[in-house]
Amino acid sequence: MAHEHDHHDHHGHDKHGHHHDHTDIDWAEMAPHLESQAELFTPLYEKALAWLGHKQTEPGLIVDAGSGPGVLSCLLAEAFPGARVVAVDVSEPLLERAAGRAERLGLADRFGTLAGELPSVLEDLDYPVDLLWASRSLHHLGDQRAGIAAFAARLARGGTLALMEGGLPPRFLPRDIGIGRPGLQARLDALEEGWFAQMRADLPGAVSETEDWPALMASAGLRHTGTRSFMLDLPAPTTDRARAYIAHSLGRLREVFGEHLEAGDRETLDRLLDPTDAASVHRRADVFVLAVHTVHTAVRTG
Ligand SMILES: C[S@@+](CC[C@H](N)C(=O)[O-])C[C@H]1O[C@@H](n2cnc3c(N)ncnc32)[C@H](O)[C@@H]1O
Repeated sequence: MAHEHDHHDHHGHDKHGHHHDHTDIDWAEMAPHLESQAELFTPLYEKALAWLGHKQTEPGLIVDAGSGPGVLSCLLAEAFPGARVVAVDVSEPLLERAAGRAERLGLADRFGTLAGELPSVLEDLDYPVDLLWASRSLHHLGDQRAGIAAFAARLARGGTLALMEGGLPPRFLPRDIGIGRPGLQARLDALEEGWFAQMRADLPGAVSETEDWPALMASAGLRHTGTRSFMLDLPAPTTDRARAYIAHSLGRLREVFGEHLEAGDRETLDRLLDPTDAASVHRRADVFVLAVHTVHTAVRTG
């Protein structure tokens, strides 16, 4: 399975100053990156939400589970103008950003936030949910099967669960970039798979699970209604915004994998990240963003 992972450094400290294992994630620190990434990916999300919209009647209550800074929560509110949207996340600073964004976009009157740990925090919702959207958040729960079952339990009859999980690793560079050994991104993907496995293993209550999302939704009593993948295609020559996202993403990989990179790849990454180098992603002509995310939907029938 491929992921658009959430990189962070090796030295996570929580707000109490305790040292954590290397996969503990400081979500608030990631806010600007999460936000600018989601903004860049907006065309992809809009296609996914249009596909969702064609499949169902106008929802009354939408929950964005693991909303982060709320870019998608606001897109949900815009795609479904009759709905109230509740952004749910464990990180209050991210929810504050989500609320601020909704306010700026004139959506505040039908936008709310709920802070707490998924999935149990969903018990605090007053009404059954017509559309529960969870993009790239389920894989942060130790027990994904239990997470899906808890999401399903909050749905209204006829309500939809939409999971955005998996797809393809993003590509930013051609295979051969004229410096270093060709195939850098494929080697980074392999390191990332190891990182992701460790991140999951370190989650509280981690359960290993076959990531067959439609089967897991069916085992929670839902009827699988579709799976579709959506592409973001920002070809070269690309924009400054895309370059900033690429630089941030590769910079994170450089930081996270540091000494685990082969020496040649470390040097290549350093050149790619050095804005004074004509071969850097800030200046080279051949950088692009090609990314694919998959959405799975299922409906509560009983
Ligand atoms: C990769 S981000 C995805 C954000 C957004 N849904 C998107 O697709 O851009 C994962 C989000 O899940 C949240 N999260 C992770 N574990 C959580 C948990 N146990 N309970 C609630 N939220 C959680 C994080 O705070 C973060 O905002």
